[in-house]
Amino acid sequence: MSADLSLLSDEELLEKTGLEVVPLTKDVGAEVLGVDLSSKLDKPTFETIRRAWLEHGVLVIRNQSIDPDAFVAFSTRFGELDNAPVMENGRAFVDGYPELFVISNVVKNGLRIGSLGARELEWHTDMAYVDEPPMASCLYAVEVPEGEGKTGFLNMYKAYAKLPAALKDQIAGKAIKHDSVYTLDGYLREGGGRTLEHVKALGCFDVQKLPGAWHPAVRTHPETGQEALYIGRRQNTCVEGLNLRESEELLDAIWKYINRIGKRTYHHEWQAGDVVIWDNRCIMHRRDAFPSASRRVMHRTQMQGSRPI
Ligand code: SIN
Repeated sequence: MSADLSLLSDEELLEKTGLEVVPLTKDVGAEVLGVDLSSKLDKPTFETIRRAWLEHGVLVIRNQSIDPDAFVAFSTRFGELDNAPVMENGRAFVDGYPELFVISNVVKNGLRIGSLGARELEWHTDMAYVDEPPMASCLYAVEVPEGEGKTGFLNMYKAYAKLPAALKDQIAGKAIKHDSVYTLDGYLREGGGRTLEHVKALGCFDVQKLPGAWHPAVRTHPETGQEALYIGRRQNTCVEGLNLRESEELLDAIWKYINRIGKRTYHHEWQAGDVVIWDNRCIMHRRDAFPSASRRVMHRTQMQGSRPI
């Protein structure tokens, strides 16, 4: 008869599985050692990984050599997968695997094989613009330029806990609107390459009227019960009950604070074969720009989530 894993402490599970979980910084992230994702994980091994992920928000598993089936199988252990999101060039996914989003700047035969190019991606949470944003996202580094295009991770429980009291008061009980029209790198979703700047120049841009989703500015994590700041991304958001000027001022003040604390957090330097999984309910991430002549190919899965409360 198999043991009830919920009865085992974290230490007992680590001893049973032989895994090591090594924190990467004081606030966020841990590296898991001793895992091979190319074969099916047994229940104790997966439970150890799941607990470490809930505790540290981001897990790094290095030196993996996995095919699309293995990557999908590992990701599915956390929950059902979404399909790749719609970007300005449609859905970019691995042939035969609609759930494997390709993030890449590589151009092949004149066509971009993936999305999100080589530009900086500012701090954000994946797909806060839908009613039920993905619970988690997982990246697998297929091909990466050495030392370039690092991905940063920020703990939003800590960000909320340390948010200046005056800002906490101003967002208490309020929702934030997350626009669904523009991609993170400023393009109209499926907009034939038109950018946000283009639309602003036409004078027909009003963030309060854009379609999108409203979510509480402070959400409670459904599994850990902790409160986290949930602000999506800076561009094209607005705060409930404020006029545009007041909303911009408040968001600017919050994001100034985020950019300040974000400098002190975990920034992952990629090697091919790295798998990194994070919890979108309590983590924001960002990516540094890298030279467009460098080749970077990542596969990403995202696990379905529920409406933030
Ligand atoms: C993302 O925002 O999911 C992309 C991160 C990256 O390219 O490192």
